[in-house]
Amino acid sequence: MEITTTDLGLAARVQHLKKTYGSGEGTVRALDDVSVGIRRGQFTAIMGPSGSGKSTLMHIMAGLDSPTEGRAWIGDTEITGLGDIDLTILRRRRVGFIFQAFNLVPTLDALGNIMLPFELDGRRPSAIERARIDGLVETLGLGSRLAHRPHQLSGGQQQRVAIARALAMEPAVLLCDEITSALDVSVQGSVLNLVRELRGELDLTMLFISHNLSVVRHVADSVGVMYLGRLVELSPRRQLFSAPRHPYTRMLLDAIPDIAMTGRQRTPVQGEVPNPLNPPSGCAFHPRCPHANARCSSERPELADFQGIRIAGRRRGAASDWRRISV
Ligand SMILES: Nc1ncnc2c1ncn2[C@@H]1O[C@H](COP(=O)(O)OP(=O)(O)OP(=O)(O)O)[C@@H](O)[C@H]1O
Ligand code: SF4
Ligand SMILES: [Mg+2]
Repeated sequence: MEITTTDLGLAARVQHLKKTYGSGEGTVRALDDVSVGIRRGQFTAIMGPSGSGKSTLMHIMAGLDSPTEGRAWIGDTEITGLGDIDLTILRRRRVGFIFQAFNLVPTLDALGNIMLPFELDGRRPSAIERARIDGLVETLGLGSRLAHRPHQLSGGQQQRVAIARALAMEPAVLLCDEITSALDVSVQGSVLNLVRELRGELDLTMLFISHNLSVVRHVADSVGVMYLGRLVELSPRRQLFSAPRHPYTRMLLDAIPDIAMTGRQRTPVQGEVPNPLNPPSGCAFHPRCPHANARCSSERPELADFQGIRIAGRRRGAASDWRRISV
């Protein structure tokens, strides 16, 4: 199994994570008891509709936000509860993150941006680190662009500078929030291929959010699917695409065009995500689920193991039941 919620010795993990945002209009449970662990060297994708809590999860794992409840670790270091100074050091040295907006410093050239983590850490890179960064710059095709400022670079080049910066300190974990969505499809492909190439070299572990199913299919080893603040399925990638278990995952995949020409009908995703200020009772997916029964609106399904897959289901009486769904 690629992903787990219990093992120690993982590159990153979170346990029973809850995050609640209050506003004048009410309370949103951005994360509602999420547990997940990522093994070293794995690429794990997180999918889910807008507002399902993907970025909130990533921000907490990056130590940029704190949970209302629950715990998070990078390696063996628990980040929940770390003081500001330790958290800043951990973020700088052990976690690389790339967010949708590349957040490059406009007044620094590409090299200055790549070296920023060392600048912030108050030191120069060692000869070994500098050689590794030179190799990274080469692999990313940035050699001739190092003196350019961000506004002189294309979107793809800016993205690659952001990747080089995120990897400059050889982080234990790389967190990417929709890194490719601002790029056109061909550039997305080349950026992701570069990340895959670097994976072997740098022993990378990556958690990435993507709305693009072909990106997920191409890059991920394992996939988590979120819906209204909950993780509803967690599977090895092949299994998720060949035999999705949770009804929402199936709905999501049924909407993909039939590229393999199997004759399967494409079914657009049905219904809307409910208002997060007033989420449905029981299984939050029940108003849209074609298999819902009376229990679904009153009982909340728990994430349970089924043949190496984790799926939100009950032991009896629901379509996402992890025993019945195997047939
Ligand atoms: N700072 C905040 N204050 C109030 N509500 C917030 C805040 N940040 C996020 N939320 C709410 O928490 C929920 C989860 O948001 P989050 O950004 O994690 O979703 P997401 O899955 O990343 O969505 P998207 O795919 O649109 O980026 C949403 O309902 C959102 O409106
Ligand atoms: S618990 Fe019920 S409503 Fe929720 S996914 Fe399973 S069958 Fe559908
Ligand atoms: Mg987001």
